[in-house]
Amino acid sequence: MDNARIAVMVGPKGRGSNMLALIRAGKEGRMPACVEVVIAPTHSAPAVQTAQDEKVRVAIVEPGDDYGARLLDAMEGCRYVCLAGFLRLLPEEVLRAFPDRVLNIHPALLPDFGGKGMYGARVHEAVIAAGAKESGCTVHLVNERYDDGRILLQKRLEVAPDDTPESLAARVLELEHQAYPEALTKLTRE
Ligand code: GRF
Repeated sequence: MDNARIAVMVGPKGRGSNMLALIRAGKEGRMPACVEVVIAPTHSAPAVQTAQDEKVRVAIVEPGDDYGARLLDAMEGCRYVCLAGFLRLLPEEVLRAFPDRVLNIHPALLPDFGGKGMYGARVHEAVIAAGAKESGCTVHLVNERYDDGRILLQKRLEVAPDDTPESLAARVLELEHQAYPEALTKLTRE
């Protein structure tokens, strides 16, 4: 059977490291799916250049009128949608078209340290401020609320006493790059 195709969605400032981890895992046969298209809101997203260097198709879809329909066009032929640094809620028609097949990765152990506005450095600052002993990352299904869908996989690490938001972010990011292909693999087997 052909590998399932994935549409990866990045944000306007998306650096694209999780996108790249998914592209490579697909190419190297470490998951039974491959990245078919990267969808970005603007050409200037750093992830766009990375995707082009990897010879992956890029679609620029700007939010606005008919956003959902234009996203669905760009996702044609794909079975999964993976959000990777995409910070908006998805239009309802996209969620309806991909029931239980839209994934997101979050840089903390949900349900803690998630929700609207919890992204980037804020997440790790909150983890440290709360004195949490553990952090990690969560891959979950996406629904109409922020960081709320069923958890597919979590990876954990210990927060060190001298961790800064930056050091914690860097260590969590390494886990993210392992977790996303693993979670996708798990989902294809359900
Ligand atoms: C990651 O930390 C991810 O958990 C969050 O946004 C960040 C995206 O980073 N959703 P990158 O663009 O994949 O490097």
